[in-house]
This record gives sequence, structure tokens and C-alpha cells, in this order.
Amino acid sequence: MILVVGANGMLGHDLMQELNGAVQGVDLPDIDITSFESVLEVVERTKPRIVVNAAAYTDVDGCESNSELAMQVNGEGVAFLAMASRTVGAKLVQVSTDYVFDGGKGSPYLEDDAPGPLSVYGESKLAGEMNAKFNPDHLIVRTQWLYGVHGKNFVETMLRLAGEKNELAVVVDQIGSPTWTVDLARAIRELVEHDCTGIYHAANSGFCSWNDFAGAIFEESGLSIRLNPLTTEQLNRPARRPLYSTLDCSKLAADAGFVPQPWREALKQYLKLRKG
Ligand SMILES: NC(=O)c1ccc[n+]([C@@H]2O[C@H](COP(=O)([O-])OP(=O)(O)OC[C@H]3O[C@@H](n4cnc5c(N)ncnc54)[C@H](OP(=O)(O)O)[C@@H]3O)[C@@H](O)[C@H]2O)c1
Repeated sequence: MILVVGANGMLGHDLMQELNGAVQGVDLPDIDITSFESVLEVVERTKPRIVVNAAAYTDVDGCESNSELAMQVNGEGVAFLAMASRTVGAKLVQVSTDYVFDGGKGSPYLEDDAPGPLSVYGESKLAGEMNAKFNPDHLIVRTQWLYGVHGKNFVETMLRLAGEKNELAVVVDQIGSPTWTVDLARAIRELVEHDCTGIYHAANSGFCSWNDFAGAIFEESGLSIRLNPLTTEQLNRPARRPLYSTLDCSKLAADAGFVPQPWREALKQYLKLRKG
């Protein structure tokens, strides 16, 4: 049985759909990963073969003012999951982020490139990666710019704003790969089925800026919204973000035979699906 922790989240929902075989999902309040007692109780009772952790404190700006909670959920919580999964002989799959990098490399990041988080969120997720290693049978999957039908995300924000305004300013100087949670869940399934361990990068292929992504959302939705450029500096968010943090996913292709589709194809499918 595969235990999905954080099953009510955006990725968690799609993991529940995509993972083959017996899958069980848990989330708050039935498990609190900041409590070792809670984690151990659930893991010992359910005796999974694999634990997939999709639970996290994902409010990147919120983490800046709640660093203790960020570290508890994204760092310490993963240590508890690693220890508990190890106790029952289960593999731990930990989902991580491009925000462990500083974005200064200038080309797609490889799995063994040196991390350098710029934010509390990035630091806490890096602590989670390190703590996942308390279970020698671990798989760490870094991803980025997620959207899916079961969570708040950039696509939904843009579509909502398009209903309120006919002109928007969106960031031009952050580059990444928008990634559909369904494609990420498929990548995780393939990695698990191929019994991969260690660190892997998984994101839809190709890359763009947030401004390009917004343009594609409007174009594919038949909306004509005037898009203006905005810089990261002008936006002035509490958490610093990497400017260029695309992930090289060739290890995923080589070891699990999975190449995520281009981001724009994924976006088209998502938009079709959300319309119902
Ligand atoms: N979203 C992105 O763009 C992005 C990018 C890169 C990587 N990631 C990573 O991908 C993973 C999934 O992200 P997501 O966007 O799907 O997250 P999400 O929608 O925010 O879901 C996270 C889930 O974890 C639960 N949770 C929070 N604290 C918990 C705790 N102490 N114990 C148990 N469950 C807890 C949340 O419950 P509540 O809602 O009740 O708090 C929620 O159901 C995370 O590891 C995230 O860091 C996300």
C-alpha cells in the first residue's frame, strides 16, 4: 500500500488518482507531521510499502514571517516521516522545490548542483531534503511552478483577475517551467515503479516567464487582456525568489523513461479539464 501524506492538497489529490494499486491518503487533522507520535501512529497502523509526502507549508511569503512553523512542517516533519517509514521498512518519497536553488546558474539545474536557498521556504525545504535521508530508502523529487484543479494556483489567479480587469502587470524576469500536478504525479509514479532512489528533477518541459505563462493562459482561454511587464523588484514580495530556476529533467528520462510533456500542452489539457 502507498500512503499519501497531504492527500487533500493540490498535488496530493492528483497523486491519489495517478498512483497504481492500493493507495491510502491522510492529511490534517488525521496526521500532523510536526508530531512524531502522530506520524508513527499512522505509519505503524497502516504499514505502507511507500510513504509519499505531499504535505508542506507552501505559502512562500508566509514562511518569511512564520519561520518556526516552516521549519517544523517542511524540515522537522520530514525527519519524522523518514524515521517512521524506516521503522516499518517503507520507502520515503519527498516532494521538494526549485526554491532550494539561488537561480544564479544561468542554465537548467542538475540534481547534484549546489543548493543556495534565498528564502525561509527554500531553506526549510532544503532541511526537508536532508532529513529525508534519515531513511536510506528515499526518493526526493524537486519540481516547480505547480498548478492543478485541487488548489489555489497561478492559472486560477490569472483567470479570476481577467474577469475583473482588462490590463495586468505580470513578472517578466523570473524564468521557470509551469508544471501540471497530474504530470508530476505521473513522474512520481514512474520513478516509484522503476524503484529510483536519490534526487530527481521533474517538471513539464520547456520554460517561460510568469508574464509569458499568463499570456498563454489568456490566449488558450480566448481572452484578450493587455499584459504589461513587471520586474521582481517592482513586485517587492516578502520572500526572495530565484530568477532562473529551470530544472534539468534528463535523469528522470534516463532512469524512469518518462519525459513530461511541454508546459503549453499540459496547460491546454488543464484548461479543458477545469471547464468540465
Ligand atoms: N505549489 C507549488 O508551486 C510548488 C512548487 C514546487 C514544489 N512544491 C512542493 O510540492 C508539494 C505539494 O505542494 P502543493 O502545492 O500541492 O501543496 P498544498 O496544496 O499546499 O497542500 C499541502 C497539504 O499539506 C497539508 N499540511 C500542512 N501542514 C501539515 C501538517 N503539519 N501535517 C499534515 N499535513 C499538513 C495541507 O493541509 P492544510 O491545507 O489544511 O494546511 C495541505 O492539504 C509540497 O512539498 C511543495 O513544497 C510546490
